[in-house]
Amino acid sequence: MKNIAVFCSGKGTNLQAIIRAVKKGKLNVNLALVISDNKEAYALKRAKKAKIKNIFVDPKQFPLKADFEAKIIEYLEQEKIDLIVLAGFMRILSRDFVTRFKNRIINIHPALLPSFKGAHGIKDAFDYGVKVTGVTVHFVDELMDHGPIILQEALRVREDETLESLEARIHKIEHKLYPEAIRLFCEGKLKIEARKVKIIA
Ligand code: GRF
Repeated sequence: MKNIAVFCSGKGTNLQAIIRAVKKGKLNVNLALVISDNKEAYALKRAKKAKIKNIFVDPKQFPLKADFEAKIIEYLEQEKIDLIVLAGFMRILSRDFVTRFKNRIINIHPALLPSFKGAHGIKDAFDYGVKVTGVTVHFVDELMDHGPIILQEALRVREDETLESLEARIHKIEHKLYPEAIRLFCEGKLKIEARKVKIIA
């Protein structure tokens, strides 16, 4: 069984969806570790409640990013982590970190990449007036919201859509798509060829 670490900075609803998928037997992984760079992250409480090892790594204690990441790597190695799942982790990982875990870090983004990268994907798409938006799960490379795409799902923006309704609909898709992408990875069904990710049936 693969050992998974989930990195979070905030609410952790995606973490919760992953926990739920594991409990329901839809996802056969060992949720070994939750790491947060934010002491107040509700994600840490969710991890604790689910009895998952959870660690706050304080960026303020490590003025150098390399030292902050070295601390995280210690924990990852202790738990023999196979896959790092970024779920609302509001920090860009260094090139060295990404290289070390090449093709073993995935991220979820609440828009259809390459559109609306960055921290406010849902609002940016909504304000732009798009008719279609969605969710992307992708491998992480050294550029933000950029690596090869694993799964995408689109939704049509309704005439009476509000930012709040759109957020709710996007999150619902996320909570389905992320466990599915993790399952595909853990079952060895993803084959990366340059920018393309083939899903092996
Ligand atoms: C999600 O919308 C995800 O796409 C983005 O950050 C948000 C995290 O939400 N990267 P949560 O902490 O999982 O509730």
